[in-house]
Formats: sequence, C-alpha cells, structure tokens
Amino acid sequence: MKNIVVLVSGGGTNLQALIDAQNDGKIQNGKISCVISSNPEAYALERARNNGIDTAVIRRRDYENQKEYDKALVELLKTKNADLIVLAGFMTILGEYVIQSFRNKIINIHPSLIPSFCGEGFYGLRVHEQALKKGVKVTGATVHFVNEICDGGAIILQKAVEVHNGDTPEILQKRVMQEAEWKILPLAVSLFCDEKIIINENNITEIHK
Ligand code: GRF
Repeated sequence: MKNIVVLVSGGGTNLQALIDAQNDGKIQNGKISCVISSNPEAYALERARNNGIDTAVIRRRDYENQKEYDKALVELLKTKNADLIVLAGFMTILGEYVIQSFRNKIINIHPSLIPSFCGEGFYGLRVHEQALKKGVKVTGATVHFVNEICDGGAIILQKAVEVHNGDTPEILQKRVMQEAEWKILPLAVSLFCDEKIIINENNITEIHK
C-alpha cells in the first residue's frame, strides 16, 4: 500500500476527487495519508479533516530562502513516508532538492493540454484566458511527473475538453475541472499505486492498463 501525500493551497476540489475515488474503492493500492497545505486557511484542509486525514501546514514565508524551505519540506515528506506526492493546486515552487529527493514520485495536474498554455505564468484562470484568447476549440487537462522544468515532466494522462461559443475563463475552468481534472487525476494516482506507469529512457511514459 503506497502512502499518498497531497499538497494543496486552495479550495481542494481535486483533493476531493481523490478522496471520493478512495472512498469508492477506485484507488486499490494507495491511501491518502496526509494533506500538506502552503496556506493555513485553505479549504482543502477542511476537506481532509472531514475525512479523518492527517494535515500539516508549511509556509514558504516562514523560511529565509528556497534552500531552507526545501530542506524542511523534504524532511516533512520523509516523516510522512511519502511514496507518491500529488500537487493538487499547490502554489509554491518546489526547488531542485525536493525534486531530486523524490524523482518520479511527484505528479501535478495542469489545466491545459501540455505543451499548450503551460510553463511559467500559466496558472489558475490565466491558462483559460489564454486558451480563449487564442481561440482554440479544444483544451483539456494533463497529469505529469514533476521535473526541474516548469510543466515539463513526462506526461502521464491527458483528456480533451471542448471550448464552447461564449465561454468565459470561469466557465471554461469549471468544465475542464469537471470533465477532465477530476477524472484523470484519480486515475493517474491509481495507475501509479498499481505500478502501471513506466518511464522509458526518453522520459516518455508507457501506461500498462
Ligand atoms: C486546478 O485547476 C489545477 O489544475 C491547478 O490548480 C487548480 C486547483 O484547484 N493546478 P483545486 O484547489 O483542486 O480546486
């Protein structure tokens, strides 16, 4: 059974999708053992507590520099025996030390079809604003491993979502969450826990469903 640690900063609807999947028996070989937030006020913490999941808070501003913060976060993750770390709307940048300490064990959900609308500055509503500005007819979400390049790690799962006439960034964000994020994140977690995701030498994943 793998220990899943979920890192959050906000509302936690993706965390909720993971909790629901777990409660429905859809994550057979893993258990959400802890939710760590960068923000003590995050509603995601409430969702964790409501489900009897251990919580912790670690704030970047409580550390002098990135190095000190990274050290503290790695220590915390090790204390929690994290086998899989899920970034579910986590808004603090992870330094190299964290990424190296948990190589191919950190996954992230991004609200576009990578490599479109990703990289530095593409977060939250901005992603959907840019998609609408470009006039794409299809967008979606991506679950990927986290490496040193922002949104550049190996892709695990993607799901496309249609853009409709008259969409606002808020409407599109909601549709992407409902039709893609809340589906592919629990599925990717389940596949990881079942050891069905293989990363080949070209940093490409092969999924053995
Ligand atoms: C989601 O859109 C996710 O793709 C992005 O941050 C948002 C988090 O939302 N990385 P929530 O806190 O899970 O509701």
